[in-house]
Amino acid sequence: MYIVTSSELHTVFLALGILLLFGCGSENGPPGKREMSPSKKRELLINRLSKFSALPEQVTYPPDNPYSERKAELGKLLFFDPILSGEKDVACATCHHPSSGYAEFLEISIGVNGHGFGSKRAFKQPNTIPFTKRNSQTILNTAFNGINHLNKYDPVSAPMFWDLRAKSLEAQALEPIKTLEEMRGERFNEVEILEEVVRRVRDIPAYQELFEEVYGTKNSINQLNIARAIATFERTLVTNNSRFDHYMRGDESAISLSEKEGFEQFKQSGCGNCHNGPMFSDFKEHILGVRHNAKLPFEDMGIDSTFAFRTPTLRNLRHTAPYMHNGTFLTLRRVMEFYEDISVGKNINPLLQREQLDTLVNVVEIEVKDMNPIISFLNTLNDENFDKSEPDSVPSGLAVGGLIR
Ligand code: HEC
Ligand code: HEC
Repeated sequence: MYIVTSSELHTVFLALGILLLFGCGSENGPPGKREMSPSKKRELLINRLSKFSALPEQVTYPPDNPYSERKAELGKLLFFDPILSGEKDVACATCHHPSSGYAEFLEISIGVNGHGFGSKRAFKQPNTIPFTKRNSQTILNTAFNGINHLNKYDPVSAPMFWDLRAKSLEAQALEPIKTLEEMRGERFNEVEILEEVVRRVRDIPAYQELFEEVYGTKNSINQLNIARAIATFERTLVTNNSRFDHYMRGDESAISLSEKEGFEQFKQSGCGNCHNGPMFSDFKEHILGVRHNAKLPFEDMGIDSTFAFRTPTLRNLRHTAPYMHNGTFLTLRRVMEFYEDISVGKNINPLLQREQLDTLVNVVEIEVKDMNPIISFLNTLNDENFDKSEPDSVPSGLAVGGLIR
């Protein structure tokens, strides 16, 4: 399970041990005392993990799927076209809409047989389709998923989803189409639906022309090229010019004094143990013990049924509410209170023991007075400069973005 984090801890403590052996422990207590205080250990841990940088100014594309403007345009049409869903009622944009930062203002998503938009979205009646089990993540900056604080990442193996189960935007793109409640519906099985979708796209002259133009050959409409076009569009959705990015690139005045204090508090509270690097995510799994969302008829136990979920990015939080894997917290204040509960030792999910929570969250210390400064710092990570336009129409002639009006 959280081998990575505990082994990281291990390395820190090992390093501490060596430090102590060679003397310098006297600072923390009476001479001769060999144990380092827990607060000193905590401080060293935080300093080691809390590393940040601006997002890169350029996006790296996979060698077998280079950028072209026409490919991104084709990907955008596919992204908004409900032709990719079994009942032609859901598009990617249904749950990842530009007007909500390519995320969705809804706790857990409604795909097939739904209608309406954001918090107004509901199932049509009668209905046999379940909710999608998790909160819709933003597509913004997924081009950078997996990036570390040295700005290193590989788009071919970029981790996707709350449980890291897909690698790369290309591999991710066909998954929602195959999933019953997201886009597939009940009429097709997982294999049939992709064949059906390819057939439908092939039958549309406008798509035939666009695919030929992009991929250079006739007969280029297939599953892989659909996925590649969608992934190329997604890689154009980056926000790497937030005020925080300017600050990191050396513009001291890009964020205010109180926001700088909030940044300091964010680090001191231990948030950067996991929310680090330019995405404010280590892209690792952690057990926090967020409570079950009662809208879901079963308990979502996360990665390998351990209740672990991936650290989400903290960029563009203005758009990504409600928060957490199951959208149970409507506001950032509620998220802060959740961490305060943990820091005062309250157990969160009744199915978990305190000892099962991640080591790195057990050292979080946050008080009520810290919450507003941290929230105002988090606002420096918002960046409104992304493509907010919808296509006027899609080649299938169906409703742009699915049944969302
Ligand atoms: C019914 C709503 C819905 C539809 C339709 C949908 N998604 Fe998603 N999307 C989600 C949810 C919910 C998640 C998180 C699922 C999880 O982690 O288990 C997600 C996650 C993702 C992620 C991962 C982001 C990250 O940071 O890991 C990407 C990329 C993505 N979707 C792209 C797409 C594309 C492309 C389509 C269309 C082919 C699509 N989605 C259709 C709801 C939807
Ligand atoms: C042990 C690693 C860890 C630490 C430490 C940590 N977080 Fe998180 N954070 C996570 C994970 C994992 C999630 C998702 C949990 C879930 O959905 O069940 C999360 C979710 C969030 C979210 C919701 C984002 C979204 O889009 O849903 C916010 C905001 C957040 N954390 C802020 C903070 C702040 C502020 C601190 C410090 C007080 C902090 N985190 C400390 C790992 C961590």
